[in-house]
Amino acid sequence: MVDYRSFEQLLHSRIKRRNLIIGVGAFTGLAIANQFSHQQAIAKSRFSNYPFTLGVASGEPYPTSVVIWTRLAPEPLNGGGMPPVNVPIHWEVASDRNMKRIVSRGTVLATPQLAHSVRVVVEGLQSDTWYWYRFNVGQDVSPIGRTRTAPFANSYLSKLNFALVSCQNYQQGYYTAYKYLAKDDLDLVVHVGDYIYEGGISASAVRQHNSPEILTLEDYRNRHALYKTDANLQAAHAAFPWIVTWDDHEVENNYANAISEVDNEPDQDPQVFLQRRAVAYQAYYEHMPLRPFSKPVGPDMQLFRRLDFGKLATFHVLDTRQYRTDQPCGDGTKERCPENLDPQATITGQAQEDWLYKGLNSSQAKWNVLAQQVIVAQIDRTVGEGGTYSMDKWDGYVASRDRLMRFLEQRKPSNPVVLTGDVHSNWAMNLKADFNDPESTIVGSEFVCTSISSGGDGADTSPAVEAYLPENPHIKFYNGQRGYVRCSLTPTTWKTDYLVLSNVTTPSGTISQRASFVVEDGRPGIQQV
Ligand SMILES: [Fe+2]
Repeated sequence: MVDYRSFEQLLHSRIKRRNLIIGVGAFTGLAIANQFSHQQAIAKSRFSNYPFTLGVASGEPYPTSVVIWTRLAPEPLNGGGMPPVNVPIHWEVASDRNMKRIVSRGTVLATPQLAHSVRVVVEGLQSDTWYWYRFNVGQDVSPIGRTRTAPFANSYLSKLNFALVSCQNYQQGYYTAYKYLAKDDLDLVVHVGDYIYEGGISASAVRQHNSPEILTLEDYRNRHALYKTDANLQAAHAAFPWIVTWDDHEVENNYANAISEVDNEPDQDPQVFLQRRAVAYQAYYEHMPLRPFSKPVGPDMQLFRRLDFGKLATFHVLDTRQYRTDQPCGDGTKERCPENLDPQATITGQAQEDWLYKGLNSSQAKWNVLAQQVIVAQIDRTVGEGGTYSMDKWDGYVASRDRLMRFLEQRKPSNPVVLTGDVHSNWAMNLKADFNDPESTIVGSEFVCTSISSGGDGADTSPAVEAYLPENPHIKFYNGQRGYVRCSLTPTTWKTDYLVLSNVTTPSGTISQRASFVVEDGRPGIQQV
C-alpha cells in the first residue's frame, strides 16, 4: 500500500478541504462498524442504497477460466459508501441465461483495501463456451452478466468477432456506441485506453465530471465510479468479456513512465508523480476485470500480457505508457530532432520489447494482434516540403518502431495486425518496412479506432488531415466521427468494419457502417471492400 500522505501534503488546499469532508464520511463508516459486529452487519445487509450501482464485468478469457468482477458501492460518487469492514459476496456462474444450471459458485471477500471491489477467477470451465454470472450480498442481487471462455490454444477456431474501442470522456458525449455494441454479435471487447479522463469539471459539457482534476486514491475511485454508472457502458460490460489496456488519461495526459505532464499540478517531481501513478493504477485495477497478476505493487503494474483464441488469434496486449522514455523534443508535433532518433529511447521498455518479439517468434496463431495505445505508422503532418510528427506516438520513438518494422519484415510472424486508439478518429493503414519509401515492403496492417465519446460529435472528414494524406500513401482511410470498430476473423480473412454515430451530444445518436476493409491471410496490408 502506498503511503501518499506526503503526496497529499503537496496538493492544493482544495484537495485538503475535500479530504476533510471525506474524513467525516469515513468516521461515519467507522461508527457503523462499531455499532454492528461484522456478521450482524452482513446479515442485516444495511447498505444505504443498492450496492451494485457499478454493474458487473468479466474479462481475460482463458480456455478453462475467466475473471468476473463487481464492486459494492451504494454511494458510488462518495468513496463507495461502504463501512470499513470486509464483506463476503456470493457469486455464481451458470450455463444458461436464467441462472438455473449453476456450474460454479462461491464466496469472495470484498475488502476496504480494494474499495470493496471483487474479482473471481472462475476455474474449471469448459473451453469456448458462453456462461452467465451474478453476485449477491444479503437481499441484494447484481445484474446478470454474460461471458465466455476461449478455445484451447491448439484447437481450430472458425471465427472470432470482437469490438475495438477507446477514449470515453464522460463529459464530451454519451456512450451510445456501447448501446449498439452491447447488441452486436461479438465474442469479446478490446479496450485500448482512456477508460477515464482525469480532468476537472467543464460547465459547458453535455454531462459533467464529479470533481476537479483527480489526484488522490479517493479521487480516482470516484472518477472510475462515475464512468461506471453509465448504463450503456454497464450493458457492454455485462454482454461480453473484455480485454483492457490503458493509455495516458487513466493517470494523466501524456505522462511517460515517472514523468508527469508539464502543468501546474503538484506532481512535477518524479517521486511525487510515482505516488500519483500508484493510486491511479490501484483504482484502475480495482475497477477492471483483470487477472490477479496485474495487481499493482506500489507504482508498478503488470499489464502487458498475451491471450490466445485457438489457432486463430493471439492478442499481444501492450503497455506503451509505463516504461517509455520521455517524449522527445518537448512533446507535441515536431520536425525530426536527434532525441527523436535516439536508439536508447523506447516506447515499450526493453523487457516488454523482448517479450513481444519472443511471443511473435513462437506464436502459432493465424492472426497476431498487437492491441495497444498509440499510432504505430508514420504520419507526416506537414503538407509539402519537410515533415512533422507526433512525439507522443511511435513516431516519437523512431528506433523502437524501426526495430518492430524490421522484425516484422525479417521474421515474418503470421499476419501481424496492430490495433490502436488514442487519436479520437478512425484510420486504416499499411505498415511499411520503410515509411519514407512508398515502394518498400508492406509488413502489416494497422486499424485505429475512433473514440466512444471523446471530442464530441466529430465530423466525417477533416480538411487538415485531407491536406496531408497525399504525403502518407500508406494511409488508406480516415474518419473523424465517434463509434466503434468491429473485427471479424476467420482463418482466411480479417474484416474490419468502422461503425460511426450520427452524434454523441444527444443520447439518441444513430449508427451506420462507414467503411470496411479486409486483410487476407498471408498477404500483408489492407484492402477496401
Ligand atoms: Fe483519448
